[in-house]
Amino acid sequence: MAIQHPSFGTLADDRIIIFDTTLRDGEQSPGFSMNLEEKLRMAEALAELGVDVMEAGFPIASPGDFESVRAIAERFAKDGPVICGLARTAPADILRAAEAVRPAARRRIHTFVSTSPLHMRVKLRMEPEEVLELVTSSVTLARQHTDDVEWSAEDGSRTEPDFLCRCVEAAIKAGATTINIPDTVGYALPEDMARIFAMIRERVPGADQVVLSAHNHNDLGLAVANTLAAIRAGVRQVEATINGIGERAGNASLEEVVMALRTRRDALPYRTNIHTPNILRTSKLLATITGFDVQPNKAIVGRNAFAHESGIHQDGVLKDKSTYEIMTPESVGWSTSSLVMGKHSGRAAFRDKLKALGYEGIGDNQLNDAFRRFKELADRKKIVYDEDIVALVDDEVIRQ
Ligand code: KIV
Ligand code: ZN
Repeated sequence: MAIQHPSFGTLADDRIIIFDTTLRDGEQSPGFSMNLEEKLRMAEALAELGVDVMEAGFPIASPGDFESVRAIAERFAKDGPVICGLARTAPADILRAAEAVRPAARRRIHTFVSTSPLHMRVKLRMEPEEVLELVTSSVTLARQHTDDVEWSAEDGSRTEPDFLCRCVEAAIKAGATTINIPDTVGYALPEDMARIFAMIRERVPGADQVVLSAHNHNDLGLAVANTLAAIRAGVRQVEATINGIGERAGNASLEEVVMALRTRRDALPYRTNIHTPNILRTSKLLATITGFDVQPNKAIVGRNAFAHESGIHQDGVLKDKSTYEIMTPESVGWSTSSLVMGKHSGRAAFRDKLKALGYEGIGDNQLNDAFRRFKELADRKKIVYDEDIVALVDDEVIRQ
């Protein structure tokens, strides 16, 4: 039976809700905090990207965070994504979140508590039964302020299975409409996440009537793999950030999850509402605002994601791009793929580059000599720029 969701209505079976937490969990990474104006700019870009839910911040954390969430909620007072505020279980937290998101046309309160033995003993210093009561009281209070309530089991992947099921059941009974099981410390393997969600679906009454959600951290570099495994196990909401920013090694990268779904529809027959040609500009805006660029080899948005240097690859791409590209650069916002001229580049790419630079009618001898000199230059320089090639060919033409 299809899920009826307070913010999304009837959810189609293949629909994946994209919950962006760049402005909350992403912002929690050291050096990545944003001021109100920066958060508003990012919020605008995220809405244009098509995220379904935007976690705008943790309103009780600071007056600035409250103001940012409130301003974003006001910006989306008529329509737009669901605006979400994070809260712990304390009534003051929940009320602050409720107040911050109130102006939004569609709003969510996201409340969480730790459920793993380690966190309950060391961090909360509480017995499991006390935590269970907090689950009920926090969700009940949040539901008095909005009908869209998400509950998260912090450190859920390291939680004892029976207790996790009892907590999820209590949250659903109290009115949670989304149940999120975070891999808070990035410890899980894909099969662990799949097993946890399969267990919840099998054992918890009402689990088929709420949206199950995955929130994976990247400490072992598995956040995206774990998210895809969770989707296969029945999850219909994924929590992710632009460029994968977030606590420690970050969160699942939104662009990677979305493009994995789009590129591998054969194996993952799901769809999102993300307008993928906006991905690159959103990534670049975040990098500009935070001052942290992504690494060159970052999937989808790294400078080298669609760049080819080796002769064999360049030759293939010149014949047919699909030889070495599994998605088009345009589909994620790049204007085109690039053939980077370096010591691994071959004659075909060199000839193509000359053509692009306007040297159409260059003779074979000139081409051969220019190519030989290009290779010598490439051995000395990491990247040979267009200007280097122009200088080199002009010199060759003058010399012959
Ligand atoms: O990683 C985590 O457990 C979280 C929760 C607050 C959802 O970010
Ligand atoms: Zn997190």
